[in-house]
Amino acid sequence: MHHTSPLRSIRLRRIYLDYNATTPIAPSVLEAMEPFLQTHYGNPSSSHWMGRAAAEGVTDARGMLASLLGCDEDEIVFTSGGTEANNLAIKGIMLREPPSAGGHLIISAIEHPAVTSPADFLRRMGYDVTIVPVNKDGIVEPDLLIKAIKRKTRLVSIMHANNEIGTIQPIRRIADFCHSRSILVHTDAAQSVGKIRTDVDQLDVDLLTVAAHKFYGPKGVGALFIRGGVDLEPLHHGGDQEFGFRAGTENTAAIVGLGRAALLCNKALEESAKRMEFLRADLLERLEQGIGMPLTVNGAAAPRLPNTLSVVFPSVNARLMLERLPQLAASTGSACHSTTGTSGTLQAIGLSPAAAQGTMRLSLGWYTSQEDIELVADWLIEAWTALTR
Ligand SMILES: Cc1ncc(COP(=O)(O)O)c(C=O)c1O
Repeated sequence: MHHTSPLRSIRLRRIYLDYNATTPIAPSVLEAMEPFLQTHYGNPSSSHWMGRAAAEGVTDARGMLASLLGCDEDEIVFTSGGTEANNLAIKGIMLREPPSAGGHLIISAIEHPAVTSPADFLRRMGYDVTIVPVNKDGIVEPDLLIKAIKRKTRLVSIMHANNEIGTIQPIRRIADFCHSRSILVHTDAAQSVGKIRTDVDQLDVDLLTVAAHKFYGPKGVGALFIRGGVDLEPLHHGGDQEFGFRAGTENTAAIVGLGRAALLCNKALEESAKRMEFLRADLLERLEQGIGMPLTVNGAAAPRLPNTLSVVFPSVNARLMLERLPQLAASTGSACHSTTGTSGTLQAIGLSPAAAQGTMRLSLGWYTSQEDIELVADWLIEAWTALTR
């Protein structure tokens, strides 16, 4: 029989704490998808038996996501991911009128590039765009947002939960005000769906973005909730799939996976949120003990995702810490900023350059164990000590 010494296995162990970048596909999600890659290969638009089998898979998935979001099935439009859903929401609303009509868009200073880039595009096209700041806790202050509103404001797009620091925005309050002025509200909920309850009626939003790979579904598939009665300009012109909002033959297997992942989250959400919060607190406590001082946690004074720990390691560059720990998958900033090295979010909350450099994002998920947390804490303390000695 082959024996591995415990020490050796610990050293060789790799740990993934980057669930905000993406999650693995849950085993039962993969299982649900498989028949749609092989057996039920029909086109969901075909009226024969083979098409109907595929269409049923898509319909079931639509129901599962609708149930997680608390909306009607015909308010869900499947897309190729969070990026496309954001583009469809923002450009789809704004492009309904030409720039000469004076259309105004408001976004926040901590949006994901999948919101800031469409906003930049619209500005180049001649639309008016305002970026509202966040406070030092990473929250959009409704009063500042209200001040930014103009007579021609058509859409306000504020993310639900931030990908880097996890702060949760007061979407309901923002929506209440916007609706009193007949302004539409979109929220990028790519990071919140599956981690915290994200109900479109509680939030009272008109449009909401979903990305399956953030909640144990496959990559390359997402959805946009479009409230009944809201009309937007499709980005793809073609067939009449997805109620005419998104042309193109549906990615059936991926959609089925998204649906199954939504079903799993709907069942497990509260319990897993509690577990994440417990593990996150344990990780922070171990780090503070090892380093011997209280650590700054970005966004800690605000409501926050239960799985996200954006922590500042003092007097060190977090990137160098991660370089010493090739077995740990975590990030400084977010995955999308990892090449440029700048984090818009950390700048927007007014973090000093030194604190921003020392910031590491550790994001936990369903498959994170207590043992993972203990090992990662030891590794991080060791790396920090080596670099600051
Ligand atoms: C807040 C946020 N919005 C949008 C996206 C983009 O989603 P996707 O990768 O599915 O295009 C991500 C993650 O990548 C995200 O974190």
